[in-house]
Amino acid sequence: MWKTETSTKQAPKDPILGVTEAYLADENPEKINLGVGAYRDDLSKPVVLKVVRAAEEKISGKQFMEYLPIGGYKPFNEKSVKLAYGEEAQCIQDGRVAAVQSLSGTGSCRLFAEFMKRYMPGAAVYIPKPTWANHHNIFRDAQVEQKSFRYYKPETKGLDFEGLMEDLQGAAEGSVVLLHACAHNPTGVDPTPEQWQELSKLMLKKHLYPFFDMAYQGFASGDCDRDSQAIRIFLEDGHDLGCSQSYAKNMGLYGQRIGCLSMVCSNKAEGSAVESQIKAVARAMYSNPPVHGALLVDNILGTPDIKQAWFDEVKGMAERIIDMRTLLQDNLVRSGSSLEWKHVTEQIGMFCFSGISPEQVDSLAKDHSIYMTRNGRISMAGVTTKNVDRLAAALHKVTS
Ligand code: LMR
Repeated sequence: MWKTETSTKQAPKDPILGVTEAYLADENPEKINLGVGAYRDDLSKPVVLKVVRAAEEKISGKQFMEYLPIGGYKPFNEKSVKLAYGEEAQCIQDGRVAAVQSLSGTGSCRLFAEFMKRYMPGAAVYIPKPTWANHHNIFRDAQVEQKSFRYYKPETKGLDFEGLMEDLQGAAEGSVVLLHACAHNPTGVDPTPEQWQELSKLMLKKHLYPFFDMAYQGFASGDCDRDSQAIRIFLEDGHDLGCSQSYAKNMGLYGQRIGCLSMVCSNKAEGSAVESQIKAVARAMYSNPPVHGALLVDNILGTPDIKQAWFDEVKGMAERIIDMRTLLQDNLVRSGSSLEWKHVTEQIGMFCFSGISPEQVDSLAKDHSIYMTRNGRISMAGVTTKNVDRLAAALHKVTS
């Protein structure tokens, strides 16, 4: 029977990607987009990395366009896990890492959530409060029970380490704990190495499974090894763990949807079985992943001098963001604001969790054409030497 009217209601706008729509609709030439976490140069232009352009030339016309296997391009997976766990990681040498190419960070998290639903029945996932908004959608759609743990302390605009430890102390054995490996999104607040060590010990004792979302490797400190130190600490302690990697930010491959899901298992046989089951999930969802991004990343990571040039480019992007933090803080002080803005430089990675209210965010959009997510998250990548004074003045105005 034909439907004469639909009962489907309009879905709400995405809290992050919806900001871009509002920004695009604004006709003010001075408008500023601090919404989505996508890198921009000091002229507010999107950036294609030089190493990516070079890799494009290398693969152009030479590569196949056949289907990849369900698990993706194996050389890419092998290089990705080395980037995450370390070139000499014991788990890789033991052959106990299951790894598949994924549709960037969202895709890896989604695959993992689906795997969790099937093979960790009844387990809940503990998610930091707050987290990247899409984490909630991902685990909801996989029908995995979500619980939260304290993470951010509004009073200090820093980590609530005591709250975090207390909440995880109370988590049921076998639960999964979602951790941001570095550059926590949205707060820009990461535990110190000593705090990661304490957390790792607690999770071992309580038999909690760590799942690291690493969307910003290289973007926090500018050093890819340093940014995966949390994962290395957990590995050192003997954890089995999962890891989602994305090359959207650190290689600027946003639209290529290229990432890797890996799970460090207890032994080789388990690694192989887990990988086969993740592939079974992928086959039904999207069959196999796209080829182009995998070839680009493989090319970059597989050529030592290009890999070094990539490290330098990531460092350059991280440093520009760090510079913008200092500049924003200086401008806020200069604007006459009597508020405390030291968190702007204390936080790390792509985002600054400004602490302004949803209503103040609305005023920024309405009165100043400055756009950010309603939780007050500023994508520092959108701040430039040209717009920082206008931003600081507007922030001062809406918070006065
Ligand atoms: C963000 O948090 O802005 C990015 O991770 C982009 C996205 O997909 O939400």
